[in-house]
Amino acid sequence: MALKEILPRLGLAGEAAEPRQVLEMVRPEHTVLDGFRPLSECLEARLSSAHWDEHGILPFVENDVPYLINNSGRLSEDAASLLFVEIREAQVEGPILVLEIGAGTGLFCRYFLDTFRAICVQENADFYDRLLYIVTDRSPRTCRQWVERGLFDEHAGRVRIGCGDGAGLVFAGLEGEPVAIGRCNAVFANYVLDVLPATIVRRCGENGSFEELRIRTHLAAQPDVLHGCAGLTLDEIRSTVGGGRNLARLAPVAGMFEHEVAWFPLEDTECPVRHALLQAAHPGDRILINDGAARFLQAAAAHLGPRGFILINDYGPIQPEQVPLHSASQRFGPTIAAGVNFPLLECFIRSQTGLEVLAGDGDEGRMIHSRLITAGLTPETAKSFQSRFSASAAEYFEAPLTAARSHSAAGRKDAAVDAYREAVERSPREWSLIAEVADYVGLQLQDHESGLKLARAAVELNPWYSAWVWNILGDCLYCLGRRAEAHEAFSQAERIDPNDERTNLNLAYTYAEAGDHRRALDCIARGLANPRRETYRERLLAKQQEILNAISLRRKMEGERLQHRTARFFA
Ligand SMILES: C[S@@+](CC[C@H](N)C(=O)[O-])C[C@H]1O[C@@H](n2cnc3c(N)ncnc32)[C@H](O)[C@@H]1O
Repeated sequence: MALKEILPRLGLAGEAAEPRQVLEMVRPEHTVLDGFRPLSECLEARLSSAHWDEHGILPFVENDVPYLINNSGRLSEDAASLLFVEIREAQVEGPILVLEIGAGTGLFCRYFLDTFRAICVQENADFYDRLLYIVTDRSPRTCRQWVERGLFDEHAGRVRIGCGDGAGLVFAGLEGEPVAIGRCNAVFANYVLDVLPATIVRRCGENGSFEELRIRTHLAAQPDVLHGCAGLTLDEIRSTVGGGRNLARLAPVAGMFEHEVAWFPLEDTECPVRHALLQAAHPGDRILINDGAARFLQAAAAHLGPRGFILINDYGPIQPEQVPLHSASQRFGPTIAAGVNFPLLECFIRSQTGLEVLAGDGDEGRMIHSRLITAGLTPETAKSFQSRFSASAAEYFEAPLTAARSHSAAGRKDAAVDAYREAVERSPREWSLIAEVADYVGLQLQDHESGLKLARAAVELNPWYSAWVWNILGDCLYCLGRRAEAHEAFSQAERIDPNDERTNLNLAYTYAEAGDHRRALDCIARGLANPRRETYRERLLAKQQEILNAISLRRKMEGERLQHRTARFFA
């Protein structure tokens, strides 16, 4: 149809407007929540800090923040071996001090101590008895949760908990008493430099000055949509943002934030750490400046004993040309992180502290990058670092697991079991590996007895944080007909993560079998209200239908019996 025929049918007959004039009348609607601020101070970053502080380890148990990679036991074993070799080779005498910042689950510390003690027993060395491990996190909630869970009870006397900012290395105990940091033999920072303050800058103009990226936060959703899904009005959100208190309550609306970015002149360029970082920055249209990480490294370097080292494990660009592409923050559930500009920090360490920085061979192919920072190592320790932290070392441990998964996917059961056996031989204390094997053997191969034994071994290693492990144990018990014990295992999973869908589905089964339909339906409602994996939705709905049918049937039968009863009186 010709334009002049279709336009009247659309109610658009007449002269076309001048686009430039139309644009002059356009006024975009803004629901600004928070003005332009640098990356670490923007609303999303403040919310992230509030979430860590208020909820502690919750982002890990809910799997919003990946934590397996540093907390399976493997990294702890590597770090414990490294420290053992360094102390032995350098013939360190007297007390041995280890510091960890941003410890999160605390599992790295726990497994480190388990392994270090075992090596000392095996090698007949007294290092464990001379050791003090100061384990810290900025979140007071996290520190209290370690105590509530008894995470370090096995190592009483060897552990001290400190709460405080990793960038400044100032910590207080749970009663507020200062925790002094002496000369450290080892300082660990896993996945934490990426959450310390950072900003994004670019060079501008001829005079070498810098601009900083700042972020303004808007609300994308209409206020009525907002109220419907988060239960908060726009005024409530604004006053929470403005007041800066209870920020964590905004987590459910964070997905509705929209970010506007613009460049502003960079401030604080004369602050010594920032100045040094800017001097070292490679040219680029975006440069990630990890001020907080640099402050931590400088403070930690000043605390190192003569043979001490700093070991960092983190993600981020490792080549200068990768930096512009990686200069942004990433969301992990309600928390954010910005990665680490490794080339810049390495340059900073060498120029500002005089320490050396070592990377494992083949580091460029790894997702997580390890850096050993020292004043110099004994040749044996350098060898130990390569044998533990190179890509080929990682491959040695990961290859059988990868093979097992691919055999399992292809239905080659014997080969999968062989490969899993080899993986477990190489990593006998990795709880997540043993749990995966338990799941395969107990639930896929349906050897419930063996699966139960494997799951039992996995919960022994990590009874604290994984609803998944307790569910595997419960599933094996359930399949063996041990329903009451299965219910106990699922209830333990519920204590760890009440919203987990698999846990709620399992509890729906055990409650329904015990005739407690109300609780069974409550669990299903909780599972449906907290969707994390699509796979469980259908199963939860099917179970709900089954329970509703059972309730109807019971009522029908009760009604019939009542009718019979009445009829008897008149028979
Ligand atoms: C991504 S998690 C890493 C946890 C653990 N190290 C790991 O590898 O799984 C970051 C942790 O750092 C803590 N954190 C955040 N800001 C911090 C700061 N300024 N100083 C010390 N810890 C901080 C958080 O509470 C959280 O436990």
